[in-house]
Amino acid sequence: MKKKQSQIFIITAPGLEGVCAAEAAALGLEEVHSVGGGVSCRGGLRELYAANLHLRTATRIVVRFDEFKATDFPDLFRKALRLPWGSFLCPDTAIEIRASAHRSRLIHTGRIAETVSAAIERALGRSMAGEGHSGFTQLILVRFDEDSCTISCDSSGELLHKRGYRAAAGAAPLRETLAAASLLLLGWDGSTPLCDPLCGSGTIVVEGGLIASQQPPGRHRHFAFMRWPGYRPGLWQALTAEADRKIILSPAPIYASDHDDRVLAVAAQNARQAGVAEMIDISCSDLNSLPVRSGPGLVLCNPPYGIRLERGDDLHGLYRSLGDGFRRAFPGWTIAFIAPEEHLALATGLELHCRARLVNGGLAVALYTGKIPSSSP
Ligand SMILES: C[S@@+](CC[C@H](N)C(=O)[O-])C[C@H]1O[C@@H](n2cnc3c(N)ncnc32)[C@H](O)[C@@H]1O
Repeated sequence: MKKKQSQIFIITAPGLEGVCAAEAAALGLEEVHSVGGGVSCRGGLRELYAANLHLRTATRIVVRFDEFKATDFPDLFRKALRLPWGSFLCPDTAIEIRASAHRSRLIHTGRIAETVSAAIERALGRSMAGEGHSGFTQLILVRFDEDSCTISCDSSGELLHKRGYRAAAGAAPLRETLAAASLLLLGWDGSTPLCDPLCGSGTIVVEGGLIASQQPPGRHRHFAFMRWPGYRPGLWQALTAEADRKIILSPAPIYASDHDDRVLAVAAQNARQAGVAEMIDISCSDLNSLPVRSGPGLVLCNPPYGIRLERGDDLHGLYRSLGDGFRRAFPGWTIAFIAPEEHLALATGLELHCRARLVNGGLAVALYTGKIPSSSP
């Protein structure tokens, strides 16, 4: 008998759709297509739980509940009323409805949300006002496009970049999903050394440690699907036990350094919380004083963008000195960094190409990469 499958949509940050689709396909999700803003696919409960547990580059995973045409509010109410809301909502669950509308007769998103909320109240025979007793709020997404209404239920809860290990952050931390995606986009799998010589709070090396040791990013957190009436704890335990059996120690060294020892204490704490501390060699050093290490290996970092630099600080000079530092300390390594503007990447004086266009904290950035020649004998 064919197992029950649902339509699943994986929301990603801009630029991460392709890498996330590759992760989803490798996990066994079916009909995987990368589209603007995410990845559409199909899967059963096992795949839904596994996606939340394992995907490193996803922001949120939603299950498509229903799709129907509605051109007036009574029609929307009637069609929303007949959905089996009891399969996602326990008696003590509060709800948050987020509505959006494009090219549709119903465009008042506040009234769309109120109508769906009223239909849920009628369907379940209880008030949805205020907090639920459980303290948990189920997010429901209602999207109108050309009069077609799609209703989805969030299975993730807190956004998936919140792995649960970040105790504190440095000044401009990279999102965990962006750090992991950059490593995957560069084809890094843990079999060669990794170094972040501008590591700040350590996001890149911690995500690198998780990838290299095959630890799932969602191992130590909770998800919205755990609050659904049909939650199967046995299935979740089987998935986490299977993941735990596959954990290994990183086969290659991971180096992290920064010239600011205060952020290094944060990096060390985050690495401990994530369970990867013993795989990461953390040291306090300016890039220009690092010992020379011959490649192969991957240097990946996220240099300052200049937003917090004092007026008069020379951002081009900083990138020029980064280029000199990379050339001196990393012969034979692949180097990569995330920077907001091409002229900064060019200022390094390195031969680079743009691997991906991404968004970091609302800012358009790009992932640049190139190879440092091995030093001549
Ligand atoms: C944008 S932050 C990196 C944030 C980091 N990716 C994270 O997720 O927390 C840039 C870091 O580069 C460090 N830095 C800047 N110039 C440096 C240099 N010449 N040598 C070593 N560290 C440097 C800063 O101290 C800062 O922590």
